Amino acid sequence: MSSSEPARSIFITGAASGIGRATAQLFAERGWFVGAFDVDEAGLQTLSRQSEVAYTRRLDVTDVGDYGAAVEAFVEQTSGRMDMLFNNAGIIASSPLDQMPWETVERILRINLFGAMIGVQAAMQWLKRTEGSLCFSTCSASAIYGSANLVAYSASKHAVKGLTEALSIELKKHGVRAADVLPGIVETAMLPPEHKAILPTEGPWRLIQPREVAEVAWRAYGEDRVHWYVPEELKELHVMAVNAPEQARDYFVALGRD
Ligand code: NAI
Repeated sequence: MSSSEPARSIFITGAASGIGRATAQLFAERGWFVGAFDVDEAGLQTLSRQSEVAYTRRLDVTDVGDYGAAVEAFVEQTSGRMDMLFNNAGIIASSPLDQMPWETVERILRINLFGAMIGVQAAMQWLKRTEGSLCFSTCSASAIYGSANLVAYSASKHAVKGLTEALSIELKKHGVRAADVLPGIVETAMLPPEHKAILPTEGPWRLIQPREVAEVAWRAYGEDRVHWYVPEELKELHVMAVNAPEQARDYFVALGRD
């Protein structure tokens, strides 16, 4: 990018914490105009104070009307440019499906899936107008093979993977790419502290730092790849899940994820 060109811009949801926050910081450090959106206003305030992030605003990704207003406010700041939409906001809740309150099931789907779809609808006209743009989403290793006690979460993330793949075809003729990242276990507010203590030090289930996922988001803008894995070893599990789902099931049962 030459100095006469406007800065590239990224719209990030779930930016007050964890992966979204690390991504906002990394892109801002590298000269992008970063719009950081979240329901957590206090978290956005500290992000604003501690980084070069240019713009923060409260946004609940499930609110269709407010999402449209947030996108309008963002493109006013960027002269209509949106180089990257990062659908990252998400929640998790763990329990056997038959013991999970229905409100919780719906809330997971509303935020993790509908939130991303609302974002795509709201942002699409601006992505189409911006050359080389990318619609990027945080998926999960739970979209490789569903996780026990995380049925609603797994379903939501499989759906996000489907969303990415469908958009990657639908948007090709408009010059907009669609991609996602499938992280394993990342050290964020989402990870129960007691789980951290029992993780292996290597392999696909080692503990990942949010910054590693942010680096992958950065690479994803520059390379044409649909699915990204953090760590990379997760791709082997994905291949197993496609080629031999019974073997994948037994692997996860043996891993103690039942
Ligand atoms: P986090 O809890 O640190 O960050 C999630 C952010 O989303 C929070 O700031 C929260 O306020 C925000 N958020 C929640 N509901 C929202 C809503 N309705 N509207 C706007 N913002 C909302 O967790 P983390 O780990 O950074 O999560 C980011 C994404 O990464 C999620 O989609 C999650 O499912 C995914 N992920 C996380 C993994 C992990 O091990 N931490 C592994 C794989 C995927």
